[in-house]
Amino acid sequence: MVKPDAVGRGLTGRILARVEAEGFAIRRLKLVRLSPDEARIFYAVHAGKPFLERLVEYISSGPLCAVLLEREDAIARLRAIAGATDPAEAAEGTIRREFGVDKTHNAVHASDGPGTAAAEKAFFGLTLARDAAEAASEAARGGASREGGC
Ligand code: CMP
Repeated sequence: MVKPDAVGRGLTGRILARVEAEGFAIRRLKLVRLSPDEARIFYAVHAGKPFLERLVEYISSGPLCAVLLEREDAIARLRAIAGATDPAEAAEGTIRREFGVDKTHNAVHASDGPGTAAAEKAFFGLTLARDAAEAASEAARGGASREGGC
C-alpha cells in the first residue's frame, strides 16, 4: 500500500517504479479512500495500541493506493526495501528512508506474512480471477468442507 501522505505528495509513481525495479510485477492496483471504521478493521491487529487512533485518522484522511505485487520471496523482499517502520531508523536506500516523514506518515505498508497478505488482498478486493479459480477447484476437492469444519 502506498499510504495517503505519499499519494497526496505525488509519490505513487516513484514508489511503484522503485518496486518494479526490484523485480516486482504489479498485478492489481486501486486507489481507495477508507472510512475510519474500515481503517480500524484493516489495522485490527493494532487494537488497543496507543497509536491506533492517530493511525486510523491518518489512513482514512485521503486516498491510498492498494497494490498486489508478485515476485519470488515477495513478502521478505518488499519488507526489506520498505525499511524500518520509523523512517529515521530505516536503512539508506529504503523507501521509508527516502519518502517517509515519521512513524505514522511512513509512505508505505507491506504485508508481514502470507496470512496477512491474503487477508489484506481480500480486504482491498484485489483477488485475481486465477485465485478464485484455485479456490473453486480446492472446494471441488473437498477443501470447502474442511474449512467449514464439518
Ligand atoms: P504499517 O506497516 O502500516 O503497520 C502498522 C503501522 O502502525 C505502521 O506501519 C506505522 O505507520 C504505525 N505504527 C507502528 N508503530 C507505531 C508507533 N509506535 N507510533 C506510531 N505509529 C506506529
